[in-house]
Amino acid sequence: MLIRDATPGDWPVMWAFMQPVIAAGTTFSWETTTGSEQAREMWFPPAPGRTFVAVDDQGTVMGTANSVRNHGGPASHIASASFMVDPAHRGRGVGRALGNHVLERARADGFRAMQFNAVVETNTRAVALWRSLGFTVIGTLPEGFAHPEHGYVGLHIMHRRL
Ligand SMILES: CC(C)(COP(=O)(O)OP(=O)(O)OC[C@H]1O[C@@H](n2cnc3c(N)ncnc32)[C@H](O)[C@@H]1OP(=O)(O)O)[C@@H](O)C(=O)NCCC(=O)NCCS
Repeated sequence: MLIRDATPGDWPVMWAFMQPVIAAGTTFSWETTTGSEQAREMWFPPAPGRTFVAVDDQGTVMGTANSVRNHGGPASHIASASFMVDPAHRGRGVGRALGNHVLERARADGFRAMQFNAVVETNTRAVALWRSLGFTVIGTLPEGFAHPEHGYVGLHIMHRRL
């Protein structure tokens, strides 16, 4: 597996697995009707934002992540990030590799910590992954997310120093 910067040419393959994740409304606090153009703008943030893809030996995109400044000005030393792995390639370490890569790059960019703003508490696979990468839940927004199956569930804020 190789993790590299994403290019505009990667977008069609990325969007093909991202769109159903967004439309499902179970893990992301985006409008479920978000279209390709709007999603592309959000997923490719301006510098110092970064966008990555994980590719296999054939160059197939298996997953993607982005990182951003979580706030500006005197709070701009904290990064945030988002992740999506193609369901066809989950459970094989792609998410973990993207997580490690994002953390390394944020550290190299001079950020002092990483904060995830909205991890849905029923997204147990993601919560377990982020905990194993050193994140802790520093707070939970009660009933912060309207889950289509579980109803109102908590939204974790997760944090780790870099
Ligand atoms: C969360 C997500 C990025 C994880 O990607 P992934 O490639 O499947 O993750 P990995 O294969 O690296 O697995 C990481 C951990 O997830 C858990 N996990 C993986 N496969 C699992 C499975 N089949 N069942 C339960 N837990 C599993 C394990 O804790 C695993 O740790 P391990 O490496 O010690 O086994 C992916 O499921 C995804 O894109 N989900 C939809 C979007 C999303 O939720 N994004 C994150 C929002 S906070």
